[in-house]
Amino acid sequence: ADQTIYRASTTAPVNIAVIKYWGKRDAKLNLPTNSSLSVTLSQADLCTTTTASCSASYTTADSLLLNSAPQTLETPRTQACLKALRSQRAALEEANSNLPKLSTFPLRIVSVNNFPTAAGLASSAAGFAALIRAIANLYELPANPSDLSIIARQGSGSACRSLFGGYVAWQAGEKADGSDSLAVEVAPASHWPEMRAVILVASALKKDVGSTEGMQLTVKTSTLFPLRANTIVPQRMEEMKKAIASKNFEDFARITMQDSNGFHATCLDTYPPTFYMNDTSRAAVRAVEAINRAAGKDVAAYTFDAGPNAVIYYLAENEGLVAGLFKSFLSHIDGWQVRRGQAIQASSATPLDESI
Ligand code: PMV
Repeated sequence: ADQTIYRASTTAPVNIAVIKYWGKRDAKLNLPTNSSLSVTLSQADLCTTTTASCSASYTTADSLLLNSAPQTLETPRTQACLKALRSQRAALEEANSNLPKLSTFPLRIVSVNNFPTAAGLASSAAGFAALIRAIANLYELPANPSDLSIIARQGSGSACRSLFGGYVAWQAGEKADGSDSLAVEVAPASHWPEMRAVILVASALKKDVGSTEGMQLTVKTSTLFPLRANTIVPQRMEEMKKAIASKNFEDFARITMQDSNGFHATCLDTYPPTFYMNDTSRAAVRAVEAINRAAGKDVAAYTFDAGPNAVIYYLAENEGLVAGLFKSFLSHIDGWQVRRGQAIQASSATPLDESI
């Protein structure tokens, strides 16, 4: 039998949404109730590196190591991704009988995050994006990032946006099979290279209400949610694309903050209510407001995902104003830790791709 070990590696970046995905119209396929838009952060600071290998000589079932610890692949979401990748590979093998039958070999996947997995940062997005790309590279699938985003979306919704660098939209789509629910590039990072982000870790604890559970409670019980999903977000998507196209930071900042506030308002509006932000998060909001007041315009924009940590976007020219003031505002508050004490640049390129 073929003893060759086939192997491919890739890295995928973290993305932080400025228009949030919140709500599923189909929980099995991870189809969202609204489109969303994110900024991809630099891979030098935050990324997942994944190597996938397969061989007929592997005798154990598919396996995954994350930062050296074994993880289960037996979740419906991960299985959906592996199944989709294997069936695309099987189609290539059927069309060309000279190809090794990689689709039938056990997989070994090894992933490493270059940031603390438990830090409450968006790790599942980078993780699933890297997993999908590493296997797609291994299988030599002729898929582009948008094609792969359809598979990554089934692992974790937000992961579909980590297949691109720069400014990325996840189009909600309309079809029941999810074939039009995919990520597209809005602008490359090079379009607006002055964009920076700083992450304030308010708590490294795991969030108490997971995103799937939180979304379902919101869709089911929030009275504000239909307005957000059907009316407000579609308008914001258009405004945000214009703000990015014209590099209008003040519009970018206002829409980012309004959308974070609106998303957390629908969480507060669930019954029982869901709290993701805490007192420390609210102190960050106040600090950003004070910075913007002092500057006489919006030079900083906060956004919060399903947890208390803040991500602050700003332009390089305001580095001293924003990052500097943040330290003095928050130094007296316990629990704050500015990641690496410095700014994280928005990603300058699509993820590095190297097949071994
Ligand atoms: O992809 P999930 O299921 O981890 O959900 C992510 C939800 C938010 O981070 C709150 C918003 C977003 O668009 O990333």
